[in-house]
Amino acid sequence: MFARALRRASNDAIARTRARGYKVAVLGAAGGIGQPCGLLMKMNPLVTELALYDIAGTPGVAADVSHVNTAAQTKGYAGDGELGAALKDADVVIIPAGVPRKPGMTRDDLFAINGGIVKGLVEAIADNCPNAMINMISNPVNSTVPIAAEVLKAKGKYDARKLFGVTTLDVVRAKTFYAEKAGLETAKVDVPVVGGHAGITILPLFSQATPKASNLSEADIDALTKRTQDGGTEVVAAKAGKGSATLSMAYAGALFADACLRAKNGEANIVECTYVESKITDAAFFASKVTLGRDGVDTIHGLGSLTAYEQANLDAMIPQLQGEIKKGIDFVKGA
Ligand code: NAD
Ligand code: LMR
Repeated sequence: MFARALRRASNDAIARTRARGYKVAVLGAAGGIGQPCGLLMKMNPLVTELALYDIAGTPGVAADVSHVNTAAQTKGYAGDGELGAALKDADVVIIPAGVPRKPGMTRDDLFAINGGIVKGLVEAIADNCPNAMINMISNPVNSTVPIAAEVLKAKGKYDARKLFGVTTLDVVRAKTFYAEKAGLETAKVDVPVVGGHAGITILPLFSQATPKASNLSEADIDALTKRTQDGGTEVVAAKAGKGSATLSMAYAGALFADACLRAKNGEANIVECTYVESKITDAAFFASKVTLGRDGVDTIHGLGSLTAYEQANLDAMIPQLQGEIKKGIDFVKGA
């Protein structure tokens, strides 16, 4: 069903604009997210070239995915020596490379390992596809995006419009939980989620959800907010040591990459919540509604009117977000 929706949306885009094909690279393509995300990108009609990169295992994944009868020419790349070729002239780079959480860990506990992985990959992006839109999935997103920004700055290749932390899974979760609780049709629900991508920095704005549910109490909204904030932990606990969300993340990652591709292709009014360099709060990076254009971020939208509950949550998250952003910046600057 998702594939049909994705195909329909992309076909609409093609009909409205002069379509061209795009190269998408997935880094970490042999992993739990990377494999299904690669498959979903193979099914996207705007993709004509699909590069699947990992430190190992990608020849098999690519051989498998390449048999799907869609247009994207699919190739696997394995190991450092093939990273440059995988990235060469890519239009969109999706990064789910790195280790996932185990029960009891925070996303920040992944910083030491994933920070180094992301730094190396973004250096290669700067050298091989500096104009690509970067879709950062690797955790901790609150810090890996600032790491990427500093790496690109050091290489003289930073364009803030093209660097995105993927927070779409938070939106997907908020929509699902809200629709279930309010008894609404899930596919018709929209919920903006702002802030960052860890614990209290994830802030769903249920007061701005559509359609408006009249049957939810303040206690319901509090429970929905906490469930959205803890959605990742819920999956980590259920997987009991076998990693974190992969399938729902691949879906969310493919949705966000599709939005980037449609915007690149000239489709208008593409609005997504995403974590970008931002001036709308005191945090230098912040997720909010963003209109995407051919060159990436076109307009960063303000937060609109917040309830007292949402405002208090916003005020509470900013120091944590600022700390996690600083940690990412210091990681590169101090290196
Ligand atoms: P995984 O372990 O299944 O896969 C990660 C892949 O990355 C592996 O195949 C590994 O070989 C590869 N990898 C490691 N170092 C690499 C390098 N230098 N270059 C290329 N590939 C490399 O993990 P997963 O479940 O797919 O999760 C990946 C990351 O995504 C984790 O950091 C996780 O926390 C994060 N994540 C983010 C969100 C989000 O909402 N942004 C959601 C879920 C997971
Ligand atoms: C998620 O939200 O599912 C991801 O960030 C993975 C995690 O560690 O929770």
